[in-house]
Amino acid sequence: MKVLANDGIAQTGVDQLEKAGFEVITTNVAQEQLENYINKHNIDVILVRSATTVRAELIDACPSIKIIGRGGVGMDNIDVTYAREKGLHVINTPAASSHSVAELVFAHLFGMVRYLYDANRNMPLDGDTKFKALKKSYANGKELKGKTLGVFGFGRIGQATAKVALGVGMKVVAFDPFLKETDLELDFFDGQKISFHIETISKEEVLKQADFITLHVPAQKDFVIDEKEIKAMKDGVGLINAARGGVVNEVELVQALESGKIAYAGIDTFIDEPTPAMQVLMNQHVSLSPHIGAATAEAQDRIGSELASQIIDLLK
Ligand SMILES: NC(=O)c1ccc[n+]([C@@H]2O[C@H](COP(=O)([O-])OP(=O)(O)OC[C@H]3O[C@@H](n4cnc5c(N)ncnc54)[C@H](O)[C@@H]3O)[C@@H](O)[C@H]2O)c1
Repeated sequence: MKVLANDGIAQTGVDQLEKAGFEVITTNVAQEQLENYINKHNIDVILVRSATTVRAELIDACPSIKIIGRGGVGMDNIDVTYAREKGLHVINTPAASSHSVAELVFAHLFGMVRYLYDANRNMPLDGDTKFKALKKSYANGKELKGKTLGVFGFGRIGQATAKVALGVGMKVVAFDPFLKETDLELDFFDGQKISFHIETISKEEVLKQADFITLHVPAQKDFVIDEKEIKAMKDGVGLINAARGGVVNEVELVQALESGKIAYAGIDTFIDEPTPAMQVLMNQHVSLSPHIGAATAEAQDRIGSELASQIIDLLK
């Protein structure tokens, strides 16, 4: 059986599949040539990340396909319902990258409270001539310990982020209209475990209490953070969006950064990816990353091996 991993797959996944007798092809076939390639090589499984799309026309045109797999969470690039109606299996790996995204949130948070994003822009330019002035301008740092993290969306990534926050000594408050309470289990290196019970509270309360707000909601029709929500936040709050471009109104965000209402923001996901607004990219109060929440070796290994196990279970 043949697996085409069109957007790549970690070596762990390739090894697992090959051991089980699959042929794994990691060539990146251009979208318009996929139909031809799949039919010519009689591909049984097509694996994608976010780049390749698998629409109804491709599904109809390629009868050899039995499984469509998405390495990661969102499946907007696959016609999932249509594929399932046609009897195909559609699989993904929703939990594999949660901890990686959570750590990226903290990379932004730790960086922002010490102005590292700005220091990294200015030190190469002025570090040798204005060292003392730069030292003074970044002197007003803060610790995260003891501060309150407000989590919007208390699903897989929201909870993983809360666990890191608890480990750092932060207070966690969460808003999720579809989840009332949960127990978070923190694992330590020596096998000890601590369980934390968290009850979600209202959006208004989270906005009122949080020193830092991090978003872990799915893409939706309306902004989750808009003018009204920003007004309800504490002055000088920090905001992180590593969820989806479009859950924060970026125009309002930039205004709030200019006025100081929001002191700093960490942005991994942008409205106009892959060409984000310059007002966001150029803002000196923004810590930036190009949608790399899941881009760690560990997450990619877990994604590869979870996909491989599911394929083996379904086809062997
Ligand atoms: N930055 C990255 O690279 C990266 C990587 C993976 C996932 N993501 C994104 O992270 C987000 C969360 O993923 P997840 O796996 O935790 O999803 P999840 O489905 O496990 O959790 C989402 C939670 O949000 C809640 N929710 C929905 N609407 C809400 C709202 N308006 N306000 C508050 N809560 C709301 C849901 O009830 C759910 O509990 C998704 O948007 C996903 O696309 C980003």
